[in-house]
Amino acid sequence: MRALWLTDTHTTFSFLWKKYSLVKYIKNKKVDAVIITGDISNGLFVDYILYYLASHLRNIEIYFVIGNHDLWFRDIEDVYDDLRKLTETYKNLHWLTEKDAIELTKDVAIIGNDGWYSCRVDNDFEYKFTFDWMLINDFRKMKSMEERIEAFKQKSLESAKDIEGKLINAIDAGYKTIFLATHVPPFKETNMNTGWFAETRNAYDTNDYMGESIKKIMSKHPEKNLICLSGHTHYNVSAKISNNIECRTNKANYFSVRFANEELINI
Ligand SMILES: [Fe+2]
Repeated sequence: MRALWLTDTHTTFSFLWKKYSLVKYIKNKKVDAVIITGDISNGLFVDYILYYLASHLRNIEIYFVIGNHDLWFRDIEDVYDDLRKLTETYKNLHWLTEKDAIELTKDVAIIGNDGWYSCRVDNDFEYKFTFDWMLINDFRKMKSMEERIEAFKQKSLESAKDIEGKLINAIDAGYKTIFLATHVPPFKETNMNTGWFAETRNAYDTNDYMGESIKKIMSKHPEKNLICLSGHTHYNVSAKISNNIECRTNKANYFSVRFANEELINI
């Protein structure tokens, strides 16, 4: 099967016309499936963009997770409710966070979780310069930055636990290769941040609780392979994490209708 991986489409800034080009682009690629690893739009439009894709690409399976931007301007649970209703209606739309491993071919499965950054750093300097704590209602309502950082960590830990279960299930079910779709990269190796703030920035760009869970499980199954597809950092990187773990991130294109970040995957 042929799949097209897209990440960080950020249709927010140009959604009125970018959605047309996105559908046309996918149709031209003649793929069986699309994998989207988050930051599709923002909280106000993410369900609309997904509805638009699902209704115009009815013969294509769409596997997706959402990113931090997809929660902006909303309560988190409200976005989740919208996505649940949408995926009930459109059977070609699969929100991987809410699903167990899905078979792609006899030997290959896909799992996923939106993920979150794990904020393992001693100071909160960087977070004050990010927008998530301000623009996502749940975090803005919290009383202090410490409380928000704790909530970020919990979200990261929950995603790690979820992926742990799904990965074990996929391995036990006999799949040889497992694709993992998650918005925030689980490994710092894909981060290209440099300079004095790199360490702090990495804490915002890495879900290393999930990375540790994956490493632990995959080291016990050297005959299996995990390919992790992520976004968030907007770097185009493919990193070999271990003998059987590869992690890829890809570019984003905020304003253009061209999708510079696409990748065709033969499965
Ligand atoms: Fe992001």
